[in-house]
Amino acid sequence: MRTLDWIFWAVWALGVLLILAYGSVIPFGAPFLPTLKKDRQAALDMLDLKPGQVFIDLGSGDGSLLVLAAQRGLKAVGYEINPFLWLYSWLRTRRFGRQVRVKLRSFWRADLSQADGVFVFLITHHMQRLARLIDSRSAKKPLRLVSHAFKIPGQKPTQKVGALFLYIYK
Ligand SMILES: C[S@@+](CC[C@H](N)C(=O)[O-])C[C@H]1O[C@@H](n2cnc3c(N)ncnc32)[C@H](O)[C@@H]1O
Repeated sequence: MRTLDWIFWAVWALGVLLILAYGSVIPFGAPFLPTLKKDRQAALDMLDLKPGQVFIDLGSGDGSLLVLAAQRGLKAVGYEINPFLWLYSWLRTRRFGRQVRVKLRSFWRADLSQADGVFVFLITHHMQRLARLIDSRSAKKPLRLVSHAFKIPGQKPTQKVGALFLYIYK
């Protein structure tokens, strides 16, 4: 094959891989759409966690929220099923050592027992399932949750800032 053919097939294969990696998450959660920087800061402000507390981003994308959380002294855990985003966020959070963990795993199997604060940016048809996940957490310690763009069915938000909804579970 000529060099041009190799380049064509390499680009084609990469394109297919990317489409599969990004598109295939839709049945399991929301596709990647990053939260704007000002909303990331606002979400962490609303969660109002103290240094040392545990912050979890369910579907952590490129890891931006994990970085911000770590910079605020929080222990941050991300769940991400897109392997490209997982790798990228894993690399960019290495500098925080064990303060940040990024798990290549579905957040539907997340352990929320240690969580003090949770952030989610999902999609309407998964919010009911998210409500069940929160209710089924084993340790019933107080939990603050910020949902970007979508409300949690059956729950009244304590606060709303732009498209961010804060829920407090006692
Ligand atoms: C809308 S993006 C939000 C990314 C990041 N939290 C932010 O707000 O910038 C949703 C992320 O969740 C990931 N995702 C979707 N379903 C998932 C699942 N079941 N488990 C883990 N991650 C998932 C997607 O790959 C995507 O990166």
